Amino acid sequence: MIPESFIQDLLNRVDIVDVIDKSVPLKKAGANYSACCPFHNEKSPSFTVSPTKQFYHCFGCGAHGTAIGFLMEYAGLSFIEAINDLAKNVGMIVPQEQSTPQSREADAQNKTIKLGLQESLQQAANYYKAQLKESPRAIEYLKGRGLSGQIAAKFQIGYAPAGWQNLQSVFANYENEALQTAGLVVENEQGKRYDRFRDRIMFPIHDQKGQVIGFGGRVINPEDTPKYYNSPETPLFQKGHELYGLFVARRAIRDAGRVLVVEGYMDVVALAQYGIEYAVAALGTATTPFHITKLMRQTDEIVFSFDGDNAGRTAAWRAAMNALPALTDGLKLRFLFLPKEHDPDSYVREFGKEKFEQEMQNAMPLSQYIIAHLSENNPLNSQEDKVKFLNEAEPILRQIVAPRSALFMRKKIAELAEVTEAEMQSLLKLPAPNRVPVLATQKQSRAPISIKKRFVLMLLMQPSLAKNEYLNFAQGFGEENVLLQASIHAALQQPQSKPAALLHTIEPNVDTKLLNEIRYELALFVKGPEFELEFEGACTQLGKMIQKKQDGGILDALKEKPLSTWTADERDMLKNLTAKKT
Ligand code: GTP
Ligand code: MN
Repeated sequence: MIPESFIQDLLNRVDIVDVIDKSVPLKKAGANYSACCPFHNEKSPSFTVSPTKQFYHCFGCGAHGTAIGFLMEYAGLSFIEAINDLAKNVGMIVPQEQSTPQSREADAQNKTIKLGLQESLQQAANYYKAQLKESPRAIEYLKGRGLSGQIAAKFQIGYAPAGWQNLQSVFANYENEALQTAGLVVENEQGKRYDRFRDRIMFPIHDQKGQVIGFGGRVINPEDTPKYYNSPETPLFQKGHELYGLFVARRAIRDAGRVLVVEGYMDVVALAQYGIEYAVAALGTATTPFHITKLMRQTDEIVFSFDGDNAGRTAAWRAAMNALPALTDGLKLRFLFLPKEHDPDSYVREFGKEKFEQEMQNAMPLSQYIIAHLSENNPLNSQEDKVKFLNEAEPILRQIVAPRSALFMRKKIAELAEVTEAEMQSLLKLPAPNRVPVLATQKQSRAPISIKKRFVLMLLMQPSLAKNEYLNFAQGFGEENVLLQASIHAALQQPQSKPAALLHTIEPNVDTKLLNEIRYELALFVKGPEFELEFEGACTQLGKMIQKKQDGGILDALKEKPLSTWTADERDMLKNLTAKKT
């Protein structure tokens, strides 16, 4: 847990222009900077970055965020990673909540261990790469599989020579604990150490920063087993979280607007060789919801293409089931089924890039796949068939929370089982799907905004203007008052903050639709010379509105009372109010 106050400090300290300019070159345009939006395809720039507001906003697609948000969306970092990255750049130290001397020591130790692992893995990778050049047999093998030297270099493919303790020549201390933890050496029962990977083609696995975190090794000799051998899970490497090839493919995924998920190392590499550079592979495990979420940070179109054999079909179904909880309505998830005798590697080699991409266009959408799978071997004729069908559909429907996807799946399933949706609903007791999320504010005709919203905008632009008494303005119910209250509180607490930091603070408490509107308006907001005057005007106006409301309340209360019971004070009050009204 990182304290909220630190995040605000950080957002006020970093300069979003620097952060974005490193990945998306920006041009100065008036008070802002602009570029073609990196989050959607466009020819003329509608992506703006504001140094004063410290956020980015795209008027084309509605993408909006802080420096933290940018690193998450663009570079695919997690929240924590983004914060660490930014903090490092401005020389801030990320505090740990409830940090004790013990936990600090443990953290430091952990860091040292990870650093040691990292270095060992990188050294080993360099060694394997160099060894590939020395092994005509390994080179022959890769050539035989249609791979060029460039592609081998791009994926930093290497070769672990035969022999039991080659790594002794690489590491000064072969007994070093780190080598075993990193999974580079194995210790037998007699306590004797030997290299884990021997006479194998080595595929280094990189994390999102491009650091080596593990290896996959493929035999050259077809008699050797197992065919593939992977690094064990280590503090750096969790198979369920990592995807082979993601680091290399990152750019291509953005450019293509989609990612292709395949089963094997060789599939990824062969596809790249044939010009399909946006493929990644799960590491000999089923695709997990983590994988899906990670990929969704990079793109909203995921195509799975597993082997045409039965194992591949099983893997596809598992991928589909694991994707359900991560599903959002904006995500396009499709399945490309290859002929039985093919995997993506053999298919692209036989038919080429164009044919492969053409097949991808026709890949089966997730919903269709689910229906097809459920009604496979089920003719849906008898009552029993339909009961079975509904039973199998139930756990699937339960997991889909994306509202539109859920709606269509339910409709379709009910239709096939020949029940009404209401009947199915009551039978299966399905949970209500998530509230329909508001799509990013598109270019819209701008109706004049309410005085309360205008006031909030000004407060976010200059929080030092906030006063406690303004909380009075937030009387009554409704989301707008929640927004107003949250903004005043945030402004009082952080009078020197930039709009981005304030937005970050109020975000969890405010209605999404309203917040999107505020973001849009804030992006357009220009602080004119009359700013403070306008602010005073808004205060007066809001004050009057509140007064009117209160007066109305008093009047209403008085009306309830029989005239005979009015006090002299109350009579005076009525006199005043009626005078005010005219
Ligand atoms: P090639 O035979 O080199 O074309 O590989 P492939 O990708 O076609 O292999 P396959 O379809 O058999 O396996 C797909 C993926 O499953 C591999 O990339 C590995 O990650 C994993 N895998 C395959 N065989 C083994 C094995 O024997 N052990 C382990 N741990 N993983 C394996
Ligand atoms: Mn293969």
